[in-house]
Amino acid sequence: MFKINDNYLKLPGSYLFSNIAKKVAAYSEAHPDQADQIIRLGIGDVTLPLAPAIIERLHSAVDEMAKQETFKGYAPDLGYEFLRTTIVEHDYQARGCDISADEIFVSDGAKSDSGNIGDIFSVDNKIAVCDPVYPVYVDSNAMSGRTGVYHPETEMWSDVIYMPCVSENHFCPELPKETPDIIYLCFPNNPTGTTLTKDQLQVWVDYALKVGAVIIYDAAYEAYISSENVPHSIYECKGAKGCAIEIRSFSKNAGFTGTRLGFTVVPKDLKCGDVSLHTLWARRHGTKFNGAPYMIQAAGAAVYSEEGRKQTQEQIAYYMNNATTIREGLIDAGYEVFGGVDAPYIWLKTPNHMKSWEFFDYLLEELNIVGTPGSGFGPSGEGYFRLTAFGSAENTKKAMERIRAGKVSGK
Ligand code: MLT
Repeated sequence: MFKINDNYLKLPGSYLFSNIAKKVAAYSEAHPDQADQIIRLGIGDVTLPLAPAIIERLHSAVDEMAKQETFKGYAPDLGYEFLRTTIVEHDYQARGCDISADEIFVSDGAKSDSGNIGDIFSVDNKIAVCDPVYPVYVDSNAMSGRTGVYHPETEMWSDVIYMPCVSENHFCPELPKETPDIIYLCFPNNPTGTTLTKDQLQVWVDYALKVGAVIIYDAAYEAYISSENVPHSIYECKGAKGCAIEIRSFSKNAGFTGTRLGFTVVPKDLKCGDVSLHTLWARRHGTKFNGAPYMIQAAGAAVYSEEGRKQTQEQIAYYMNNATTIREGLIDAGYEVFGGVDAPYIWLKTPNHMKSWEFFDYLLEELNIVGTPGSGFGPSGEGYFRLTAFGSAENTKKAMERIRAGKVSGK
């Protein structure tokens, strides 16, 4: 008789965003008169269409697939050279980071990479995560048996080191007392929308090098950074090539949430004894992945063209205007607000000590606004709530008007 991976049975409930989608669908069905009014500021999904330079390149790449001379079959394992060299030039060399094209692994997105990267590590490793945290890191480790058991009373796994990020420590994780093997960091942070300065990130790099840990650094939101002293890449820190893997996405900087493209950087200097993690990830990538489609990789390269950069920066500015609308709207309504300056997420304290899910119900039922309960990202997220700046400007303004006029106020 076959056996299942019973680690899956340890997982509580369903994936956070599926759960929210189900709740919203049920509410809409029960209240068809309000369904049209619902403003979705929950999942961090973009709403602007792909920029013209990207669309143009997608069209021409489709045409290439129609001709014998330019048709492409399987993509190279690590991704097309034209994309990897473009990434290195713009995202790394331009920032003084010594990363080479053969250290870039192109994929279908940051979510898959952050879920799959665990394949190259032993189940015996102990992970450390920020709390609250993007649920994929913990859930994917739970699926592979690296997290012990889940305790519903504390909403924590037994073998995970949680690093609380709350207003008291300015959402900056403190070095853990127990030594981890794998440390997940995401900055600009999902969900809190806060950042670390380069000096603060350097502390983590120095720590990882000292204790022999690896950092999985999720930089999916780097394009939203406008503050000077906030690093865009962990490789801006000294020594990071010896301890860090960086994951990047085209979803949030260029609207590829439905188009799918991302990449992971595994430096060749990163080793466990004599074994290079680059070799292991190359082996994993070559075996389990057949490459992102040529058309999508071509479109990805167009993001870095002069027009592409200009157009995607305009989109980022549009979303960051929404972030300002949300921040100011909430502050005006008396809420305590964090993030939303170098990130498209705004993290707020729920009013009147409401639980996160209680506030979710209030927003959905009274104001027809969907957000994400902070507790869905971990126990330290209880009493907080996340709104995203990825909606339309019109809906974002409307949502803030409803919140200002709402019967619950942050004051
Ligand atoms: C989020 O809302 O946290 C993100 O959209 C999730 C993701 O990027 O997978």
